[in-house]
Amino acid sequence: MTDSKILYGGDYNPEQWPRPVWEEDYAAFDKASIDTLTLNVFSWATLQPDEDTYDFAQLDAIVARAVEGGRGVVLATSTGALPPWLAHRHPEVERTDFQGRRHVFGQRHNACPSSPVYRRLSAELAGCLAERYAGTPGLVAWHVGNEYGGFDGGCWCDLCAAGFRDWLRVRYGTLERLNEAWNATFWSHTFSDWAQIVPPNMLSEHWRGPDHTAFQGITLDYRRFMSDAMLANFRDEKARIREHDATTPVTTNFMGMFRPIDYHRWAGDLDFASWDNYPPGRREHVRMALAHDVMRGLKDGDPFWVMEQTPTITASRDVNPVKRPGVLRLWSWQAVAHGADAVLYFQMRQSRGACERYHGAVLDHAGRTDRRAFREVAALGSELAGLGDAVVAARTPARVALLFDWDSWWAAEMTDGFNRHAKYVDTVLSYYRALWQAGAQVDVVPTTADLTRYDVVLAPMLHVLKGDVAERLAAVTARGGSVLASYWSGRADENANAHLMDAPGPLAPLFGVRVEETDSAEPGVTNPVTLTDGSGEVVSAAQLVFEVLVPEGADVAGTYGAEFYAGTPAVTRHRPTGPEGGEAWYVGTGLDDAGAAWVVRRLLDRHGLVGPYADVPDVELAVRAKDGVRFAFVLSHATEPVEVAAHASGVDLLTGRAVRAGETLRLAPTDVVLLREDAAGGEA
Ligand code: GLA
Ligand code: ZN
Repeated sequence: MTDSKILYGGDYNPEQWPRPVWEEDYAAFDKASIDTLTLNVFSWATLQPDEDTYDFAQLDAIVARAVEGGRGVVLATSTGALPPWLAHRHPEVERTDFQGRRHVFGQRHNACPSSPVYRRLSAELAGCLAERYAGTPGLVAWHVGNEYGGFDGGCWCDLCAAGFRDWLRVRYGTLERLNEAWNATFWSHTFSDWAQIVPPNMLSEHWRGPDHTAFQGITLDYRRFMSDAMLANFRDEKARIREHDATTPVTTNFMGMFRPIDYHRWAGDLDFASWDNYPPGRREHVRMALAHDVMRGLKDGDPFWVMEQTPTITASRDVNPVKRPGVLRLWSWQAVAHGADAVLYFQMRQSRGACERYHGAVLDHAGRTDRRAFREVAALGSELAGLGDAVVAARTPARVALLFDWDSWWAAEMTDGFNRHAKYVDTVLSYYRALWQAGAQVDVVPTTADLTRYDVVLAPMLHVLKGDVAERLAAVTARGGSVLASYWSGRADENANAHLMDAPGPLAPLFGVRVEETDSAEPGVTNPVTLTDGSGEVVSAAQLVFEVLVPEGADVAGTYGAEFYAGTPAVTRHRPTGPEGGEAWYVGTGLDDAGAAWVVRRLLDRHGLVGPYADVPDVELAVRAKDGVRFAFVLSHATEPVEVAAHASGVDLLTGRAVRAGETLRLAPTDVVLLREDAAGGEA
């Protein structure tokens, strides 16, 4: 990977327009400091016109023109969309949907991951591309497939059914163990032959949709299997690439907090993580920050790439507003602030036809460079070029970890009972929002991560408790650290069966509490929870889930104000090793933002981790550090101008201006300051 600057560019599909237009494109790329082009994402039908013929003439010309003048190229393998002849000749390569319908040719992300024909031909294509283009000057990375799982998260065909049975044999060895894991005596499900097992979908265990299953065990295992089946596709292609190219990094574009695929199961196979950032709304800065941190957590804090973002509008939503002036720049720097070493677009020039013809692009259909979007793209390009390698490869100095767990996400949201409105990401986000506003640097990590480097560890809705997580959380408090768990945590084992003990299961001793009953209410119904300690009090309008808690060693930090359990604990704090030791907070209800902030600030305060701009709403502080130097990004997502006192002395690398600690920084909406702190400003 190049380390000379933050890479800048994006998906470029010049096969859609005449050759003379390419020269217009490149002239514009020069104006916008575009240095990296992602090529060949969806060209299978052109590259391989039939099963026995390859034709690389067009791609040769595209690659040759791209690398002229020293640009970098990200070369995709084109296996994210099937060519028509393949679907026609081998219909079983088409996926079968959740309703059980085998699809015919059309769309993209349409292959059955278990199809031997798809697996053979996709790997062969990747191998041919690698053989031909390995060693191309400027080849920065290989981009395998595209947005795996991007249709409706998988396939439910007979080939997948057979693959699932094989996967289950490896996982369980015997049917006895499988029956035990799935609690199969319920509703007479005891399997006596592997052949009796069919994929869980609308023809079998499900009703209403993917979240409504009669058996959580089989559905959970199918999601794991499907995630692994698609990972096998990635591995097939990567192995072929590696036969011809031993060193160029290989990745695929993830989708942030994308439920169908457990990216933690994939992370080890990617040389670096990359993702496509398409926030669903206009004020999504906290959700994006979380998604960036999830992506950075995949590779243990290594920098990641934004492989795609739109410079202007998306096309796939019902309503597609443009990014307001300054927002593209702000969100791009936010990505860099959270660890991105590449900021790339979908796409460089607008598609000519089909469903993305009005999707935003660096260049519109007319190729104008005198429009706002292009000017903003070019200005950002020149800023990134000016920054050079300053923050490249720098890492986030986080003392706070937030556990993110696909098993818990899956199991919690397919759970009957309690409350269907309580969502995993919403819950995680409510705690992350409190951390973000407080200016804490956060690593979002899998439950298997090393927790010894953190002072504070949060486990919101950690529904599935597996492995030694309880012990490792206890170890955090044993050395004086602080941990938090929220409702539904610790209830289920890795097969989504209940732990045969009080909730929160194996977490109960650490948190010194048990859940006596779990009440639920419709969205909008609130229960006032009074949170109080010696240093302050707040009343939080708690929602959705109300666990009635019985302290068993813990102190009460919050109590319900309504219902038959008024006056009983909603939030507790336990000091398992005595008054001087660490703290374990348990939150049994859906606190509102003020309540979550009250609790989270208390955890951070113990360790001096509340940031300097914590009380300025929507001002973000994100830090990267390398070689002992700290780079502090101060980003204003506020809608009005704000003034803050600079937290450190240094130089704003975007303006060259010297900043003294304590001086007033005036931040207009969307402003960004990138402070290279003087050595006295702190330690990395
Ligand atoms: C995804 C895909 C791209 C394109 C964009 C449009 O990220 O990877 O091919 O469809 O969405 O937003
Ligand atoms: Zn299939």
